[in-house]
Amino acid sequence: CGIVGYIGKKEAYPIIVKGLQRLEYRGYDSAGVALLNDNKLNVYKKKGKVADLHDFAKEHDLKSTIGIGHTRWATHGEPNDVNAHPHVSNGGKLAMIHNGIIENYASIKTDLTSKGYTFQSETDSEVFINFVEDIYLNTKVPLAEAVRLALNKVVGAYAIAIMSLEDPNLLIAARKGSPLVVGLGKDEFFLASDATPIIEYTNEVVYLDDQEIAIIKDGGLTIKNIEDVEMKPYVQTVDIELEAIEKGGYDHFMIKEIFEQPKSVADCLRGRLNAKNGHLHLGGIHDYANKIVNADRIVILACGTSWHAGLVAEYIFEEFCRISVEVEYASEFRYRNPIIGENDVVIAISQSGETADTLAAIDLAKSKGATIFGVCNVVGSSIPRVTHAGSYTHAGPEIGVASTKAFTAQISVLTMMALMIAQKKGTLSESAYRSLLVELETIPEKIAKCLDLNPQIEIISAKFKDAANFLYLGRGYNFPVALEGALKLKEISYIHAEGYPAAEMKHGPIALIDENMPVVFIGTKDSSYEKIVSNIQEVKARKGEVIAIVTEGDTDIAEIADHIIEVPHTHEALMPLVSVIPLQLLSYHIAVMRGCNVDQPRNLAKSVTVE
Ligand code: G6P
Repeated sequence: CGIVGYIGKKEAYPIIVKGLQRLEYRGYDSAGVALLNDNKLNVYKKKGKVADLHDFAKEHDLKSTIGIGHTRWATHGEPNDVNAHPHVSNGGKLAMIHNGIIENYASIKTDLTSKGYTFQSETDSEVFINFVEDIYLNTKVPLAEAVRLALNKVVGAYAIAIMSLEDPNLLIAARKGSPLVVGLGKDEFFLASDATPIIEYTNEVVYLDDQEIAIIKDGGLTIKNIEDVEMKPYVQTVDIELEAIEKGGYDHFMIKEIFEQPKSVADCLRGRLNAKNGHLHLGGIHDYANKIVNADRIVILACGTSWHAGLVAEYIFEEFCRISVEVEYASEFRYRNPIIGENDVVIAISQSGETADTLAAIDLAKSKGATIFGVCNVVGSSIPRVTHAGSYTHAGPEIGVASTKAFTAQISVLTMMALMIAQKKGTLSESAYRSLLVELETIPEKIAKCLDLNPQIEIISAKFKDAANFLYLGRGYNFPVALEGALKLKEISYIHAEGYPAAEMKHGPIALIDENMPVVFIGTKDSSYEKIVSNIQEVKARKGEVIAIVTEGDTDIAEIADHIIEVPHTHEALMPLVSVIPLQLLSYHIAVMRGCNVDQPRNLAKSVTVE
């Protein structure tokens, strides 16, 4: 979910609605805003997109110099007008927006109900604001103190913002496990789930830490923790350009981000890699590099697309560094009493740096003594702040819900990490190391060549846009690419798609193959090339229609496949960076042709801050 808040001298509503639109990628089931004018608390909320909210709200009183707004991804309660945030307390004076989950809401609700409280919605959030009100009315402490007392009683995760009809110069916010940024303008303050809604007004921000409360009152900011200890705000400067979060002439963020990849990968390599003089240095892991060199095992923790990047890294680390690697879904790892200890290194991969399951899995591994490295994209997010060391991917803001440029940047960082460790460990010859550096440096231009295939891929997409199912097959380094290609397609086009190791097809998916089953093979020239040619023949023998991603100049697969897409040659370990590009484009075009909302696919959210 996304939170935006404003307090200052300007009209709050336009700032909040624009901010919500910028955050809409975080959730878009429903949206709402609370404003104060003329001693009235005006709350408008609507099921659907921020645009639906605006259509409704524009007919009403929008005057206010304070406000909070929310765009929701439903957890408790279906997306509808009532369950949308903000929620108002029974007394009608407090409004609150909330991200996260209050786990012990049921017992608090029972208690409040016995005191006569009633609830409009099914949300845990509405329980919380009434809990605050109850404390406030009974203890007569200042509102911020009532919030602090309430937070001490709740179990769960939250980012909240609260305003009160009694004091138009007061805005209260707090976080635990769900991100919250305070923007510091001139005579004004902003609140947001990440910096994107803030950067057009100010680049000075304070990232709240867990269990911190921000009290913005009468033009001043105080931060305290929930134990009531005042904290000195740590003001940071964000350097995101406004154009990085706008579509810049493209129809969708997703296609913009796909096309940004020559640059985002180059940005990721910049200053870290110089093939000519054999230079490779990731400053963020330097002090802890020996931990990996001496590790018994690497455990990679991630979710979604980041998990796929982890699978690619497994192949790379095992091959170049000769360290055993396990790639784990963070959600499974955290709940299964895993065996992990001081000699293990964890690499947590996350675009947002906020994924709740990944954060919890990190906490668990850390508590058992493992050293934690992070590979994240969002600077200042939660995961980089709890890891021992790490490297940012520097891909720039990724707004499309389906991850594209973050994936290639993650693989780029992980490849650099592996090469750095391999060199330290002596598991890779100097010449192999050097030639991989040279090859890695050419990846941005090879990605650019793949992007030139866009018109051809659009034509192929038109042929398959009505398919009901898709199968994606690859081997070796291209196996995770098959998984990622299938995920991209199902996320945004709602076509059922499965990725599989090509050889494993015989053990199940082959039963599905007939003339109505498109099969995408990633069959670039590598050590398993002959094997994949046989797999393609197996599919053709059963009348499956084959789209093959092949290396430029390929003739063998060209003869048997129905459609081929030629990508530039590179080292097989780097091929995922290249071979995934046509698959991103394929899913994009198919989704657009099917009329789907590619940037905000149904039911998904970009940043999953609930488990
Ligand atoms: C969500 C997003 C995916 C992303 C996954 C992990 O499901 O829709 O695109 O891969 O979360 O997110 P993270 O931010 O941890 O990489």
